[in-house]
Amino acid sequence: MRTKRRHRFTVSMVAAIAFLTGVFALTPGGHAKENEAAFKARCAECHGPKDILYWGRQRADAAARATWLDQFLRKHYPPSEAERALIIAYIQATIAAPK
Ligand code: HEC
Repeated sequence: MRTKRRHRFTVSMVAAIAFLTGVFALTPGGHAKENEAAFKARCAECHGPKDILYWGRQRADAAARATWLDQFLRKHYPPSEAERALIIAYIQATIAAPK
């Protein structure tokens, strides 16, 4: 009896932890890390924050800039489609709120 109850407790703890992990993975903080990691892996070798802010000054309109980056990054050291979205999100966020 005793062992059985303890087992059930463990199962619900595991479920609770899995649930919380899922929730945290969906927070903007989690995405920001992923976006930054993609930029670091693909672009940071050649580009730093100064470059990103410069691209922001070159194209002040965020929507126009997103379109431009989406086209440009299809031929400039092209990342995968999934990474391209993450990288553009990182660039846009950095320009919107410079560190
Ligand atoms: C191996 C080095 C290298 C890598 C990797 C690289 N770039 Fe570049 N990038 C350059 C150089 C050099 C230029 C300047 C070329 C020029 O003046 O047009 C440039 C220019 C740019 C520009 C400005 C283009 C313009 O027309 O003004 C953007 C935006 C850019 N890179 C974004 C990125 C992003 C995002 C990544 C990651 C997916 C990336 N680059 C990866 C070397 C690199």
